[in-house]
Amino acid sequence: MKAKIGIIGGSGLYDIDGLEGAEWVSVESPWGAPSDAILCGTLNGVDMAFLPRHGRGHVHSPSTVPYRANIDALKRLGVTDVISVSACGSFREEMAPGDFVIVSDFIDRTFAREKSFFGTGCVAHVSVAHPVCARLGDACEAAGRAAGVTVHRGGTYLAMEGPQFSSMAESKLYRDVWGCDVIGMTNMPEAKLAREAELCYASVAMITDYDSWHPDHGSVDISDIIATLGANSAAAKQTVAGLAPRLAGPREVCPCGCDRALEFAIMTAPDA
Ligand code: ADE
Repeated sequence: MKAKIGIIGGSGLYDIDGLEGAEWVSVESPWGAPSDAILCGTLNGVDMAFLPRHGRGHVHSPSTVPYRANIDALKRLGVTDVISVSACGSFREEMAPGDFVIVSDFIDRTFAREKSFFGTGCVAHVSVAHPVCARLGDACEAAGRAAGVTVHRGGTYLAMEGPQFSSMAESKLYRDVWGCDVIGMTNMPEAKLAREAELCYASVAMITDYDSWHPDHGSVDISDIIATLGANSAAAKQTVAGLAPRLAGPREVCPCGCDRALEFAIMTAPDA
């Protein structure tokens, strides 16, 4: 099985519609077992691979998702373009539940996850100054708008460890002091690992709530999140379907350099 576009689906997105020749494929990785088998098939003639981040039945918490195995498994399938679709909370009044944000930057506050493919034996330091591929971001923005969604292009995503939601003080810190726009638990270290694997990565963050800061909204409630995700799942699936024609064709040289991230990053001597 081969695929070009890899979709990593978060809470509420455990499969995609309309894949021709769809087959769940188990991919082995030296980094352990991925979250689940990967649904492979073609959409509008483009080879796609869909991986449910939490596994079907939602069995991996944000802290136990095997991020390295997931990225490695997609790379082994030939994927070059990885798009994350995940739920998030909003720090902005104008970014409302039901809207999608095409993330442009991250603050990584996770601390209990393996964050790199490199370590003892081979040391590398890649740049994640610009962690999102703008070419993929363009496709996500266009596909979301075509699906009739209110799309916000750009926003800083605070990746928290979880699994508990933020306190009000944390929420206000991230919003008022750090200037973050949305919050979620899963896009890091995923985006960093995609960069280390020289894959293009973009994130469609689907807003489900106002986190804990908003005076007119109560604390985050998982049943509200699930209801909002349910109401948006058709739009999410339509957005994913709209990516296929927009990202068809062979991978060109990435204008953002995602495909060359390791060129000057490896510190270890070749004969060490
Ligand atoms: N996922 C959805 N809403 C969230 C929130 N408020 N905080 C963290 N992750 C989320």
